[in-house]
Amino acid sequence: MRVDFNINDADLRGSKREFTRNNIHPRILAVLPTIKFLIKRGTKVVILSHRGRPTTIKSSKFKVKNYKQSSLKPFGKILSSLLKKRVNFVNLDALSLINRTKEKIRGSITGSVFLLENLRFLPGEDKNDKKFAKQLASLATFYVNDAFSVSHRKNASVVAITKFLPSYAGLLLEKEIKNLSRIMKNPKKLLVIILGGAKVSDKIGVIKNFLKEVKGQKSKINCFLTGGGVANTFFAAQGLPVGKSLYEKEMIPAARQLLKSRKIILPVDAVRKDKKILDIGPKTAEKYSQIIKKAGTIIWNGPMGYIEDPKFTKGSKAITEAILKSRAFAIVGGGETTSIISNFQFPISKKNIFISTGGGAMLEYLAGKKLPGLEALK
Ligand code: 3PG
Ligand code: MG
Repeated sequence: MRVDFNINDADLRGSKREFTRNNIHPRILAVLPTIKFLIKRGTKVVILSHRGRPTTIKSSKFKVKNYKQSSLKPFGKILSSLLKKRVNFVNLDALSLINRTKEKIRGSITGSVFLLENLRFLPGEDKNDKKFAKQLASLATFYVNDAFSVSHRKNASVVAITKFLPSYAGLLLEKEIKNLSRIMKNPKKLLVIILGGAKVSDKIGVIKNFLKEVKGQKSKINCFLTGGGVANTFFAAQGLPVGKSLYEKEMIPAARQLLKSRKIILPVDAVRKDKKILDIGPKTAEKYSQIIKKAGTIIWNGPMGYIEDPKFTKGSKAITEAILKSRAFAIVGGGETTSIISNFQFPISKKNIFISTGGGAMLEYLAGKKLPGLEALK
């Protein structure tokens, strides 16, 4: 079963220094139903994931540069406490000796859980290597993809492995696709897309896809509300000074083109420090909240400001509050954006909000691209 435990140390611990049952990362919680489902039916589960982008150094013995930050070892302990059962962690050496692992799995009792070390420690994963995929496949009798958030990557444990085993979508993957496709096919009137974060280049595909007129029908999008580096790039495209703010120079021509649609709404005020725009201002927050109030469907990816510093979270907080007050169906995605929502501790479970585990994958899906991991399951 492929999951996505790509969570850095800081996010893994949340704001607290210790792991507690209350600060388990959403990406971990999200895959528990599928794991439990499989265990209940007497399946032995071998969990596969990557973490970070570790660089492997080729030598006779395997060496990984940033081993500690990229190891999946801590996840074994977390999973074990959540599942209330032993999770057998399979380290790199054992993984290179795949036959020994096979023996171990064969000798284990029904419902046993194994977690393999970061697959990106091995060179085959990133390269979608067939031989490596076949080795992984030899550990199991069927394959489950429950990692929507990495399904935009052509990796061996996401794509090539499906050539060697009967392959299925996990419960989380199914839920993600149901929610995202619902918004793509039938957005309720007044679709509002909120785009923040550092880069407009990540989001350009989404903007273009929603501006498209399909078969003579007008595009479904009402407007894009922008913040963060995304808004700064649009400011720069209008020839406005952005000081030392984060923006993407090479995206200016594309941004200028998109502005012609007149559907891209830019902040009217900003919070600034040291010649940098670091958050949307109160007037913008109010203006955006009024628009959100009338929305039927909302998509949000990327914070409104530099949320690493709590002083610049006000804009994103206002957006969160406005979404919670509205009656719209909202999809929120991207690591930072979902952490804002969780950090503010809003009662999101009661609301009509779907929190996607996908960041890049969600943006590619919403841009209308085919995701290799999903195609491989068809
Ligand atoms: C993510 O966190 O967006 C996914 O796990 C993909 O990770 P990657 O961008 O390193 O491939
Ligand atoms: Mg990413």
